[in-house]
Amino acid sequence: MDTHSGLTAMLYTENGVPESYRLGQPVVQREYLVDGELREWHGALQEVFSPVYLQSETGEAARLLGSYPLLTENEAAKALNAAVRAYGNGTGAWPAMSVEDRIRCVERFTQLMLAEKAAVVNMLMWEIGKSYRDAELEFDRTVEYIRDTIDALKELDRGSARFTIEKGIIGQIRRAPLGVVLCMGPYNYPLNETFTTLIPALIMGNTVIFKPPRLGVLLHRPLLKAFRDAFPHGVVNTVYGDGQTVIGPLISSGEVNVLAFIGSSRVSNIIRRQHPRLNRLRCVLGLEAKNPGIITESANLDVAVRECVLGSLSFNGQRCTALKILFVHRSLYERFLERFCNEVTQLRSGMPWEEDVFLTPLPEPEKTDYLSELIRDAESHGARVMNEAGGATCHTFFHPAVLAPVTPEMRIYEEEQFGPVVPIVPYDNIATPLQYVVNSHYGQQVSVFAQDADDVARLVDALVNQVCRVNVNSQCQRGPDTFPFTGRKDSAEGTLSVSDALRVFSIRTVVATKGTDANKEILREIVRERKSAFLSTDFIL
Ligand code: G3H
Repeated sequence: MDTHSGLTAMLYTENGVPESYRLGQPVVQREYLVDGELREWHGALQEVFSPVYLQSETGEAARLLGSYPLLTENEAAKALNAAVRAYGNGTGAWPAMSVEDRIRCVERFTQLMLAEKAAVVNMLMWEIGKSYRDAELEFDRTVEYIRDTIDALKELDRGSARFTIEKGIIGQIRRAPLGVVLCMGPYNYPLNETFTTLIPALIMGNTVIFKPPRLGVLLHRPLLKAFRDAFPHGVVNTVYGDGQTVIGPLISSGEVNVLAFIGSSRVSNIIRRQHPRLNRLRCVLGLEAKNPGIITESANLDVAVRECVLGSLSFNGQRCTALKILFVHRSLYERFLERFCNEVTQLRSGMPWEEDVFLTPLPEPEKTDYLSELIRDAESHGARVMNEAGGATCHTFFHPAVLAPVTPEMRIYEEEQFGPVVPIVPYDNIATPLQYVVNSHYGQQVSVFAQDADDVARLVDALVNQVCRVNVNSQCQRGPDTFPFTGRKDSAEGTLSVSDALRVFSIRTVVATKGTDANKEILREIVRERKSAFLSTDFIL
């Protein structure tokens, strides 16, 4: 795809960036958090460039944001040892701490995190090109998630603060931690999606090794001190660098009990297979998806177009929940295409700090080349870019391309583009999109657009056993975060939501005894004199 000369007008000079978003000198991060200490790294560093290009007298160049440590196997081993020690086979200070005290630590962390909001949001914007508005929403949503997690845990704990007597057996059932959790989040929601595993893992009493995504490292730096100060030593440890170098040894040590990973199934499979005792490793995975939008004959066109534009192009289509292929009934096809392209033309492109900006530069290296390649492939099989300037590029910026008519021979029919290319498939028979969902390797969500209740009911019943969320006349999305978020096939393993996450990072454990007078007396004494953290009827208010 050719560079579109008009797009270069979007570029700013360093001084042209509004002052409140301007960056100073590049951030040289040398520190990493291990065993409650911020240790200094003196080895190789990885430079971080923004997807945002700036103009200067010497030309147009990606803004250098800073650098972070390229740690080695040795530092990874230290992080692992610290996490293993802090867990102490389940008797460490953290796993043995009362739920109330763990909640206090997380609350303290939240306070410290809030104090760093401006720094985190600004770097989130620069590092992955997310609009300032969306970066701020990501931060706020994460804080809300933490608070909701605390409430959910209180609720869960209240339900466990009692003994059950069944068939003459007295038991107390609680959720107990699993051990050492390795948390790895994705670049598109580097803060939120990492924290939706990290926080529940922590609050349930596990200890954590946290590796930020390759794109989206520096934004976590302002939070390192908060982790250090809010939690006991070794409870949170960080590693940075090449995945093979630092993650391989962590997993192959056999000491990691949970892999919490949001990314591709290819990478998650490489990681998990290195664990020497697979049954000891629980995997909590959020993986790829190719969520279809199905626009039926009875769809309300205004609603369908609005939701499909949002669904396919919010954050440049870089959401695992994005609508990544649209099936449109032939009777609406021409009108849908025309309106869809008109809407796309109205979307504002620009730099992430601009007000109302919708389309921004893409952070993945060579992403624009990949998307251009998908377009060329589709064109060679008879599709066309239907919207003005669709597919034009300017460095890391890619103007959204609406591709139609898309057919099964084209790569984009199955490949997850994870970017601003919208493939549209006209269909005559509803069997076509339904069969697509059945044949797909993915099974996260689907959106159906229909006004006829019979159509909606039929589609819902045909799809609920294929995917994990059917959205009716609405785009696909994860939220609200209290809803279960998961997928079938290659799309996920385990369910995340505020309350489900507490469950996936813990295991139900029972203390049981035959209800003899002697046993009852032992239990009474333990509870009365608060001798055990587990056997207790203390109730969190
Ligand atoms: O990338 C996947 C995210 O979990 C999507 O979240 O649907 O709320 O944007 P969202």
